[in-house]
Amino acid sequence: MVEVRALPANPGADPAAEVTIARALADRSERRDEHPALGDAVWRDLADPAPGSAGFVAVTPPDPEPVGYLRAIGRSGDPLVVDCAMTVHPDHRDDAVPGRLLDAGIAHARAVGAARAALWVFGADVDTDALAAGRGLRIERELWQMRVPLPVAGPAPMPTGVTLRAFVPGADDAAWLACNNRAFVADPDQGGWTAATLAGRVGEAWFDPAGLLVADDDGRMAGFCWTKVHAPAPPHEPHALGEIYVIGVDPADRGRGLGRALTVAGLDHLHRRGIAVGMLFVDAANTAAVGLYRALGFVTSRIDRCYGTDLA
Ligand SMILES: CC(C)(COP(=O)(O)OP(=O)(O)OC[C@H]1O[C@@H](n2cnc3c(N)ncnc32)[C@H](O)[C@@H]1OP(=O)(O)O)[C@@H](O)C(=O)NCCC(=O)NCCS
Repeated sequence: MVEVRALPANPGADPAAEVTIARALADRSERRDEHPALGDAVWRDLADPAPGSAGFVAVTPPDPEPVGYLRAIGRSGDPLVVDCAMTVHPDHRDDAVPGRLLDAGIAHARAVGAARAALWVFGADVDTDALAAGRGLRIERELWQMRVPLPVAGPAPMPTGVTLRAFVPGADDAAWLACNNRAFVADPDQGGWTAATLAGRVGEAWFDPAGLLVADDDGRMAGFCWTKVHAPAPPHEPHALGEIYVIGVDPADRGRGLGRALTVAGLDHLHRRGIAVGMLFVDAANTAAVGLYRALGFVTSRIDRCYGTDLA
């Protein structure tokens, strides 16, 4: 028998309970799956819960040990959307646990008046497709993690008149936000950053201004390549990994080799720091970016899917 319980509404009130459960189950899944079980959005929401967020745990009584965990995250906006992420103990993936947890997440989304519910799955496969389809959730977005051995074959010169420099926190904030939001106008998640979103990321421990490369065209920011170094995470990730965290070229500057030059410059920066593998996430439907990455030797190493449904 599977029992799904709602966790206290504010994880801050009892951090030991929810964060410990989430961490223990994520660690167990990561040992099996060789990739993170829950994304940054979950850990950020646990530290600072958004309106409409909640956590659920699955147990199989009389065993008191949690065998599954789901975080439902309220995505601010009108209408409200609830994004779910879950991790299930490898021994319970073929029983009722995943379905019961997802049912709880969807019921919670309805209860808080959300117009839509979504489930993000890292390392999606036919089983997660079937789980989602059984509840009327359709594949809405597919993200690929792509990797490439470093160094990549160059050279990839900057277009004439464009120079590369490091981001200057504070002085470059407004120009970076304008460039980012123009570059990602079609992607509301990345294209709607505010000064507060940027300040939050710049304030994170991993941020290094030298790793945020800016393409300067006579004093105007034409594009940028923001890199992020991931420390080794043994056993599944024994070596440091170099991520292209966000890359964007102003629409007015596309198609003249700047995207390629910035990607290669970001990868070179990571390689000079002793990193042997470059990694990034890209929307499978982003043909311009996928074409660029494939041309540089990137191959798909993991598929993440967002399954979603309207609740009205
Ligand atoms: C992806 C992006 C950075 C490419 O920038 P760009 O300056 O236009 O790219 P380049 O001129 O350097 O072109 C490099 C390669 O991209 C590919 N490419 C560029 N535009 C393309 C398009 N519209 N369709 C298909 N392939 C395209 C080609 O493979 C090209 O290869 P080539 O050098 O053999 O012609 C740019 O389109 C962008 O900022 N997009 C919005 C933000 C984004 O999606 N970022 C990536 C998120 S992972």
